[in-house]
Amino acid sequence: MEPVRLLPGFRDFYPEAFRLRRHFATIWRQVAGLHGFSEYDGPVLEALDLFRKKSGEEIERQLFAFTDKGDRAVALRPEMTPTLARMVAAKAASLRRPVKWFSIGDQFRYERQQKGRLRCFTQFNADLLGEEGPAAEVELISLLAASLRAFGLTEEDFCIRISDRTFWIHFLETRGITGETARGVLGVVDKLERESPEATRQALGAVVGEAAADPLLEAIRRLVAVRDLGELEAIAGNGVDAGALGAARERLALWAELMADLEAIGLGDFVQVDLGVVRGLAYYTGFVFEAFDRKGAFRALAGGGRYDGLVELFGGPSLPAAGFAVGDVVLEELLRERGKLPPLVEAVDVYLVVGENSRRPALEAAAALRAHGYRVEYALKAGGFGKQFKAAAQSGARLALTFGPDEIARGVCKVKDLAARTEEEVPLASVLTAVARHFQA
Ligand code: HAM
Repeated sequence: MEPVRLLPGFRDFYPEAFRLRRHFATIWRQVAGLHGFSEYDGPVLEALDLFRKKSGEEIERQLFAFTDKGDRAVALRPEMTPTLARMVAAKAASLRRPVKWFSIGDQFRYERQQKGRLRCFTQFNADLLGEEGPAAEVELISLLAASLRAFGLTEEDFCIRISDRTFWIHFLETRGITGETARGVLGVVDKLERESPEATRQALGAVVGEAAADPLLEAIRRLVAVRDLGELEAIAGNGVDAGALGAARERLALWAELMADLEAIGLGDFVQVDLGVVRGLAYYTGFVFEAFDRKGAFRALAGGGRYDGLVELFGGPSLPAAGFAVGDVVLEELLRERGKLPPLVEAVDVYLVVGENSRRPALEAAAALRAHGYRVEYALKAGGFGKQFKAAAQSGARLALTFGPDEIARGVCKVKDLAARTEEEVPLASVLTAVARHFQA
């Protein structure tokens, strides 16, 4: 039979890769804990309708969807946010607010094969529900930065680009562009960096009409070039619709609060005003943000934003909400490129070198040591001592305990400290105390 191959876009986690996976999860759990977030999870398989409602066309096209044996239309989760919104909607009345939850789990998207994109990847999601002001974004962006900095990445490695869908809506309103047309324009802006100028111009023409396309494109280019609040204010002042202008100015007050708080929490060098980020997902309503490597060589490390309408859409109360997700794929690529992947060795504490007829006392010692929390390994088959000492060195053990026939006959075993290169004989009855002495030292 032909060997059955791994599906494209899926990964095997051999122990070495799994150690990294566990390392990611350990770090994310730590930083989430430091920010007072609680861990949750949901099912990987959901009713298809959950993702049809509001994730947006792109994600809908990428769904792993099928009909189950009970004739239900189902899909593997492509992201965590709809599940979270469904869970919060179901229990909203009894949840302590603000709800600050995080989750680490696999997501599935039938993506085209490309760098940084797989069909099954892990996300660290963090969401904060119940706070309508930018305090929520400050806390989330702080956690996002921490979840990257904890791997040794600095402001020279990554940057969090912050944008505002509400500002965009008002900006387009001041030019008489609303509803579906406005959404269409944002779709074009979302692809601005990836498409050629001609393709962008053509796509914009198809949305707003040929006559309006050129001046609008110029205004859009000016807006996406903005890097500080002063420039944003100047642009907000241009327009024809007074109501929308007022609304844009109100947004600027929130921007000022957000940026001042981010500065105060020590993230001034990590964040950047950048209206070029609009986010593909359809549920975002306000501030949105994405984390990128500074050199722009990789795809987004993380993305998120505010989605105030989603919990209500899933039958819950009207509840303000915001959140983000970091993906493991791009993060690993970036850490590898910067030489920041940690050496993750899995070592035992003690290796038992066992002679032909001394298995029993060695097994007794192994059980006693394991019962006291020491990681213990020994050769399953008795072999030469040379081979066993080699295995002891490869196991990363600090101590090698020799249970040879001579030693056993005298009621002792040899304790060798492989790092310090010292050796002593101890009575079998005091093996535990001798081992403990080495690890306390
Ligand atoms: P997203 O931007 O679709 O947002 O995904 C967040 C991150 O997941 C991306 O920046 C990327 O690192 C990673 N990612 C996405 N797709 C793939 C893929 N095919 N392969 C590898 N990595 C991928 C969301 O998923 C939102 N639900 C985030 C959120 C949480 N918004 C509010 N709360």
